[in-house]
Amino acid sequence: MLSQEDNELLTRVGAETPMGTLMRRYWVPATYSHMIAEPDCPPIRVRLLGENLVAFRDTDGRVGLLEESCPHRTASLFFGRNEECGLRCVYHGWKFDVDGKCVDLPSEPPGSTLQRKVKVKAYPCQERGGIVWAYLGPPELKPELPDLEWARLPDSHRLASRQILQCNWLQGLEGGFDSSHLAFLHQGIAEGGVLIRPSYYEVLPTDFGFVVGSGRELDGDRNFWSANVMVMPFHKIIASVPVAAHMWVPIDDENTMLYCVDFHPHRPLTAEDVARETSWKGIHSENIPGTDRPIRNKDNDYLIDRALQASGDSFTGITGLGTQDNGIQESMGPIADRTKEHLGVSDTAVIAIRRFYLQTLKELADGTTPPGLDPASYQLRSSRYTAPKGVPFAESMKEKTGLEAPVSSEV
Ligand code: FES
Ligand SMILES: [Fe+2]
Repeated sequence: MLSQEDNELLTRVGAETPMGTLMRRYWVPATYSHMIAEPDCPPIRVRLLGENLVAFRDTDGRVGLLEESCPHRTASLFFGRNEECGLRCVYHGWKFDVDGKCVDLPSEPPGSTLQRKVKVKAYPCQERGGIVWAYLGPPELKPELPDLEWARLPDSHRLASRQILQCNWLQGLEGGFDSSHLAFLHQGIAEGGVLIRPSYYEVLPTDFGFVVGSGRELDGDRNFWSANVMVMPFHKIIASVPVAAHMWVPIDDENTMLYCVDFHPHRPLTAEDVARETSWKGIHSENIPGTDRPIRNKDNDYLIDRALQASGDSFTGITGLGTQDNGIQESMGPIADRTKEHLGVSDTAVIAIRRFYLQTLKELADGTTPPGLDPASYQLRSSRYTAPKGVPFAESMKEKTGLEAPVSSEV
């Protein structure tokens, strides 16, 4: 369990909050590039870290991400006209460029000095891997764009989807690294080592985030380890073929945009890869057309099939690995009340992950640079391997993956 105070610290992401301040030190996904595909296309709404924004692509192809509320009298710029290198509010015609500068103020008399003074909040954007990345933090602390492996690949090597998770980002991320649920929640979905219950759980803080080790004893003298990496502030790279990645991007305190990516590092995804992933049995979810809302959602109990559940073929009766995760995470409420939990040994990783974030928040408040700001540290993959019994996880991980885990923070 966690104190109410710590639960608040970990889950609130608004601009004035500690976690919101931490998240604003990183480039975060704002939207897909294809949602504002063409110059002068219609603007779209983006809600990110509790802020209401509009994204647009100007006449020169530059992406703008502005506060939605017009600084004149707060009308929504979503209704604006995207024309001649700027977004024009349709209420009184004020116009702003991608930097937030007011470039036209036709409702005021000639000679007005208002135009020079008015600005709308604008956040820098960069595009990579089909994603518009935004930086919402202090300009002088802006890092380089994260060098994620999947984002560097050609589009043909990658399949991405996203869906709204109706709960706080940490519930999603905790679920992503809680390997003890695999043998239960996902029972009946897939065979293989990943769904076997681990006996060891370790979390090692690193200079990019942390690594979660889940181990179990094999017959003979070896252990099987699964090492899952979390790159700050909310990226998971999953050890699978094709490789997969998750990002739990806070829309606000109670909603999360979960991006799921499958990628093959060396070749385009095949038709079979795509067919398998779009059968909606894996991490991707089938959405209501034109929305980011899953068809199997909270309002219809994820189309749970009680007969299927009773048959033993599926532990949950809910179809789809991602839907099972989302459903159970949303069932804990918009922000799980962690003061009411009863945690056991199998929650070791979850406890350590919370300590990691709390420690990082504390260090940030003390002026320490948070982990994960070196773009090169994003070139990582999780892995699974065997190692002799008795070799500590940190040691075997370093040998097998080359990853260093300097235990600098107490976790
Ligand atoms: S409210 Fe936008 S121009 Fe008046
Ligand atoms: Fe899961």
